[in-house]
Amino acid sequence: VKRLPEALLGLLLLVLGALGQRHRARAARWRARLRLRLKWMLVGVLLFAVTAGAVGALVAALGLPSIKASSGHWAVTAWFLDFAKQRSVALHSMNLAPPQPLDDSRLVLIGAGHYETGCRFCHAAPGQPLPPVPHQMTPHPPRLDTVAREFDDAELFYIVFNGLKLTGMPAWPSPQREDEAWAMVAFLRKLPELDAAGYQQLVFGPALAREDAAPEVVVRTCARCHGVDGLGRGGAFPLLAGQRPEYLRRSLEAFATGQRHSGIMRPVAAALDAAAVEQVVAWYAGLRPERAAGGAEAGPDGARIALQGIPHRRIPACAECHGPGRPPRHPAYPRLSGQHAPYLEQQLRLFGADRRGGTDFLPVMKAVLIHRLEPQEISALAAFYASLPPGEPP
Ligand code: HEC
Ligand code: HEC
Ligand code: HEC
Repeated sequence: VKRLPEALLGLLLLVLGALGQRHRARAARWRARLRLRLKWMLVGVLLFAVTAGAVGALVAALGLPSIKASSGHWAVTAWFLDFAKQRSVALHSMNLAPPQPLDDSRLVLIGAGHYETGCRFCHAAPGQPLPPVPHQMTPHPPRLDTVAREFDDAELFYIVFNGLKLTGMPAWPSPQREDEAWAMVAFLRKLPELDAAGYQQLVFGPALAREDAAPEVVVRTCARCHGVDGLGRGGAFPLLAGQRPEYLRRSLEAFATGQRHSGIMRPVAAALDAAAVEQVVAWYAGLRPERAAGGAEAGPDGARIALQGIPHRRIPACAECHGPGRPPRHPAYPRLSGQHAPYLEQQLRLFGADRRGGTDFLPVMKAVLIHRLEPQEISALAAFYASLPPGEPP
């Protein structure tokens, strides 16, 4: 059916050609007439386009179209915009694929954590009505329980990462972090199965001990992801307990300004005032976790690179700056001992892709990774540091 016009044109040309063989003169006159007609048709179309453009500009200049959100769209406009959205998302997401399988419970927890910060106030959580203020937008943010049926993984990623122009659907707060937007897709895939209690459990985790002693900002803001205990909820989030105050403070500043890239931490850090920063830093730096949180099996390769480096590739020993065996060289350098392996791996991959960002000390770490680490070296190093007891004595 698509090829019908071409086939008809071909047939016409064939007939014309055959006619031309028998009656050349007549066919030549015919063709000239056809050409003239085509020319006038083209002029007509151009005139129409110019007039339509001018009328459009005049209508806009006079301010005739109403742009009020309160009246919604006409049914036909809504249908057309929705159709155009579906087609555009389908086309532009064609070559996208998740960097890792999305049925990973760690990714689901990360996505759930950010849904609470960045999406719930528009799209509502399971068991809640749609929030009244965003509901007055045109188009208004829909419940997302049904998106699993409407979009595939790549399409969801495309929407979450890029946002939707002219709808109020925002892009991901950090354009360097595709991996975070994929974690959100992992959560959106789980969303249809969740009731109110299931959502609470994912976002806030089990009821936490030691809440009384912690400052309110820790309990209210950080705990649902990092835990009041700073252990990072079984490894979905980085270990903060026992991290050094200088590094925590500088990292929070870097997140808030976007100098360190994370669409998840940026809005959280940007909302803290100076007093709150001091409270959370004092709390987490003051904790002394007893055992390694990572629990990973460490092989000999990780220990060798961490303690001796790879001299012939001019990779220095990580221990020079990060320990173990001595406290980190500078108070603004992070501790890695006891940190969760998946987090360490992800950070090293980000450094390698030039997407980590960081504090003013970032160039120090970047210089180390000019001589790139191989993926298996990254895994070995992450497993080694995760297996060490966290936090040397103060
Ligand atoms: C300021 C309000 C707002 C925020 C915040 C917001 N969205 Fe949206 N979202 C919208 C609007 C408006 C639409 C467009 C609905 C339409 O086109 O009909 C939308 C559409 C979507 C869609 C496509 C749904 C569809 O049927 O077209 C997805 C998926 C989505 N948002 C996910 C998210 C996620 C995940 C977050 C958090 C990271 C988020 N949104 C944050 C307002 C918001
Ligand atoms: C919605 C979940 C969430 C909340 C809430 C949250 N964080 Fe985070 N945090 C993360 C994630 C995810 C990362 C890892 C970021 C990355 O991949 O770069 C992180 C990283 C960090 C880091 C960097 C750790 C390192 O080793 O470099 C610090 C410091 C931090 N968070 C502090 C806090 C504090 C303090 C609060 C409370 C004010 C808080 N976070 C609230 C999810 C959260
Ligand atoms: C010369 C000092 C130095 C050496 C050597 C060094 N690093 Fe770093 N590293 C840093 C600094 C400084 C940072 C903090 C960057 C920032 O966020 O500003 C860092 C950050 C990191 C982080 C991120 C930690 C977190 O909590 O987010 C990881 C992972 C890391 N380094 C791994 C390594 C590994 C593995 C090696 C050895 C191959 C190594 N580093 C060698 C200075 C160093």
